[in-house]
Amino acid sequence: MRYGYFDDLNKEYVIDKPNTPAPWANYLGDPNYGAIISNNAGGYSFEKSGANGRILRYVFNNFDEPGRYIYLKDNDDNDYWSLSWKPVLKDLSIYKNICRHGLGYSTFETKYKNIESNVTYYVPLNSKYEVWFVKIKNNSNTKRKLTLTSYSEFTSDNNYEQDQVNLQYTLFNSKAEYKDNLIIQSINANLLNSNPEKCCQRFFGLANLKVDNYCLDKKSFLGDYHTYQNPIGVIDKLKDEIGFNNTICGALQSNIELKPNEEISFAYILGMKNEIEARKTLVTYQDINICEKEILDIKNYWHNKLNAFIVNTPSNEFNSMINTWHAYNCFITFTWSRAASLVYCGLRNGYGYRDTVQDIQGIIHLDPKAAKEKISFMLSAQVDNGAGLPLVKFNHNAGHENTPDDIEYVKETGHPAYRADDALWLFPTIYKYLAETGDLTYLDEIIPYANKDEDSVYNHLKKAIEFSSTHLGKHKLPQGLYADWNDCLRLGKNGESTFVAMQYYFALNIIKEFAEYKKDDEYLIYLNKQIDLYYKLINEAYNSDRYIRGYTEDGKTIGAKNNLEANMWLNPQSWAVISNVADQDKKDTILNNVYNILNTKYGAELMNPAFEKEYYDAISSILLYLPGNKENGSIFLQPQGWLILAESLNGNGNRAFEYYKESCPAYQNDIAEIRIMEPYCYGQFSEGRKSPKFGRSNVHWLTGTASTIMVGCVEGILGIRPDLYGLKLSPAIPDEWNDLSIKKIFRNKLLNISIHNNTKQNKLILNGKELDTNYIKDEDLLKENNIELFLKKN
Ligand code: GLC
Repeated sequence: MRYGYFDDLNKEYVIDKPNTPAPWANYLGDPNYGAIISNNAGGYSFEKSGANGRILRYVFNNFDEPGRYIYLKDNDDNDYWSLSWKPVLKDLSIYKNICRHGLGYSTFETKYKNIESNVTYYVPLNSKYEVWFVKIKNNSNTKRKLTLTSYSEFTSDNNYEQDQVNLQYTLFNSKAEYKDNLIIQSINANLLNSNPEKCCQRFFGLANLKVDNYCLDKKSFLGDYHTYQNPIGVIDKLKDEIGFNNTICGALQSNIELKPNEEISFAYILGMKNEIEARKTLVTYQDINICEKEILDIKNYWHNKLNAFIVNTPSNEFNSMINTWHAYNCFITFTWSRAASLVYCGLRNGYGYRDTVQDIQGIIHLDPKAAKEKISFMLSAQVDNGAGLPLVKFNHNAGHENTPDDIEYVKETGHPAYRADDALWLFPTIYKYLAETGDLTYLDEIIPYANKDEDSVYNHLKKAIEFSSTHLGKHKLPQGLYADWNDCLRLGKNGESTFVAMQYYFALNIIKEFAEYKKDDEYLIYLNKQIDLYYKLINEAYNSDRYIRGYTEDGKTIGAKNNLEANMWLNPQSWAVISNVADQDKKDTILNNVYNILNTKYGAELMNPAFEKEYYDAISSILLYLPGNKENGSIFLQPQGWLILAESLNGNGNRAFEYYKESCPAYQNDIAEIRIMEPYCYGQFSEGRKSPKFGRSNVHWLTGTASTIMVGCVEGILGIRPDLYGLKLSPAIPDEWNDLSIKKIFRNKLLNISIHNNTKQNKLILNGKELDTNYIKDEDLLKENNIELFLKKN
């Protein structure tokens, strides 16, 4: 079943059936002022932190309530509806509602009883408040008398947990007052004059329309035993109730009369400001035309950003995702980390090291400048022993931080030890940044360590190599430490991880290129020795027709062919190809095995069979999940990107694209009853074959899936593979694609690339001149380039 479609021209996803199987969300603003809004206007807003700066209440896992509601009542017959389908839930055969999620805004168009409305919710660029811009039009030929009521539910505390659970305190600290179209809610209102710092104020105001009545008390607004669907304040009228203790809300009511064809527009403004500031903000919306301009600015901002990479392939789904929604997903994850969604409530007080370093990879091809800033930040969160801080606090103070070796850090963050993989993610991320930009001087930039001292980027990377080289287990493979990529696999200090070993091998090869550039000959000797050694050691972990996943503390092998459960793991197979530690025979064998054993119609499972019977310490966290879920054999989506990349690197475009299609949200647009989650963004995992809900996707938006699949598509399938000195074009596209084109900004130059598949011979033509390789040197590029790549039919 489908509930919406991609409008590529406007870069919108249009939901024309509002009764979606889950709230389908969009992001407005950025974490300075963040707002999440569903296709039924559910969601919440906050300043800086979803957990500690929460302005609007949202009750998690409670069917998408409350929200930013606007009600309309026809005063002739007292019939009322809402400008999003929820909360009134009118009969969809007579009430039409379309939600257009755009990049940075969401618009709701409603038609009911010849009244047409259009509401756009947005956060103006670089602002710390939100706007609900409303237009209402009378399409009938009689005069209409309507009552308009808006509703916003303020939290009683900036901390969302306090608001939800500590009611003996939070029900008795705030009040709200109304004056001249503006509601001001004050928390710890008693301190307003004596200690204003301790008193937090929020506002909700109306511009360009007169408020006739208000209600600042939720209980009075809803009425006893009424709900958001049928509030007494809408059925009757608001009674100018102030807010004092209990639960405050902001409801504003206006009586309007519309002549035939008359349209009015006005805006509600909401945020966290004191009365003077709020009033100033409200005044700027007296000229309501500003709203259209602000919405256009947001569109331009995002559309320009995404224009740096545009594909036109025979797959509309691929195009919609890569050009718009997947790219937006990468930016949202890059910007918001795991801070706030309808699943994450914002309680994590910082950036996960590996997550953030990986997230950067998804946007390098679109915004290398932003990528560089974040890379530098993450390097400044690397400890001087080479490891990453497992959690980098939002108020990270480079050079002065405690580390997992300090009890204070452990107490503060809950992270008891280093993880084996964190700093190793820096290698592919920094390589991609340098290759995208050619900015090799970055290697010499000086950046502090998290705890003390500073060093060049190059030396930071050497330290990361040193950390892995000195934390080895019995087989000389990297120790599992607190965890590797798999948070739930506790291989421990005396266990070993083949996945990390492959990352380490990959890192050695990457830093070798940097060492060559830096003519660091002594280090090169060391690197070559390590590369040979680890090629051998990792291949000793090859078990018949697969690479194992690791060894536990007590020497049990995980992922061996003769294990009862989880005898085949996805990541060590795809990473054996990505890191190039496997020879060609092994690459073919393991990828075939993945296909035969792990692949399903919704992607490849993380491992198989899922754990149901066995129990031992290293997997005890995995066992907490039902089989087919999360780390216990789900189709974990982040690894799909590595698999797509591995198949592409191995030259199998058909399979790479098959894997792409299986887990691609857009390809699941018409099976929303199975996928449940939004068809325009990725999730953390889809349930595997062991789940009765096979194919259901979970944990929307903020996930490392966005970046790995982006890399799998751009570097893998499309084969755009920059290196330090130029660009290799090595697509692995499916046979079913004949022609495609790519427009890319590369090192401030424009590349117009056309790829012709199934031709007679391999050929690359750069600006009319045939080259004898598929590699283009940076110095051969002009300001604007026409590149034609011909690929021979297999
Ligand atoms: C989640 C975590 C990520 C981890 C993955 C697998 O996505 O955010 O850090 O690698 O789970 O456990």
